[in-house]
Amino acid sequence: MQSSVGNPAAGKRGMNLTLRIWRQKDPAVKGKMVTYKVTDISPDMSFLEMLDVLNEQLIMQGDDPVAFDHDCREGICGMCGVMINGEAHGPQQTTTCQLHMRSFKDGDTIDVEPWRASAFPVIKDLAVDRRAFDRIIQAGGYISVPTGTAPDAHATPVPKNDSDAAFDAATCIGCGACVAACPNASSMLFTAAKVTHLGLLPQGQPERDDRVVNMVAQQDREGFGGCTNIGECSAACPKGISMETISRLNHDLLGALRAGARPKS
Ligand code: SF4
Ligand code: FES
Repeated sequence: MQSSVGNPAAGKRGMNLTLRIWRQKDPAVKGKMVTYKVTDISPDMSFLEMLDVLNEQLIMQGDDPVAFDHDCREGICGMCGVMINGEAHGPQQTTTCQLHMRSFKDGDTIDVEPWRASAFPVIKDLAVDRRAFDRIIQAGGYISVPTGTAPDAHATPVPKNDSDAAFDAATCIGCGACVAACPNASSMLFTAAKVTHLGLLPQGQPERDDRVVNMVAQQDREGFGGCTNIGECSAACPKGISMETISRLNHDLLGALRAGARPKS
């Protein structure tokens, strides 16, 4: 049964689309692309709402709905993320939940796949295990100094350029698009955003050297590839995290190693 959920504008027909979606029951079995049709899709729907329409159809037919990650649907949480026609988060530099169907044309065929990286194994269909990012954060993405209450924080002067750059880096939502877009499946942009965010602030100084050596060592342990400065990561990043953060990470790493910092084993 085709869903009737579609274009709310009276008298206007929505889009008819062919979807080729990666289906994989669990990590142990081989996956494959499966073709589905959706009809009368409103251009104003988000990509995830379009997948909701498909899943309604599948459930009504007694089939297994397509598993995909999502939470806020506002571009904040970083949970959503799929390859759309071979591009991380699709044709716009935004999150999959903020991508609208007006980016596609009536009659299009759209390929939808999970992030492809051995450090992000597929759990089911389009959902991947991104806990490797959590372990990189655990390795050093924190501060230990007491920061007090909000008035105390305001009493610590931070140069405007540093606070702006730290804020920009802090907008990383951990979605993993940088890894998925990188031909080396490198997590460097993610790690560099965290290192930059904390390394530019006074509160981040006590762990600065240990942070960078331990986070870089952890991303290697997780099996992410090395960075060769291709820049696909930054081009795909929905938050526009810049390659400058990677320069800052390399600068900090060199300084930390010269000062004798070594990763915890
Ligand atoms: S750097 Fe950008 S693409 Fe990578 S995890 Fe952060 S927000 Fe996502
Ligand atoms: S669902 Fe939260 S960023 Fe997309």
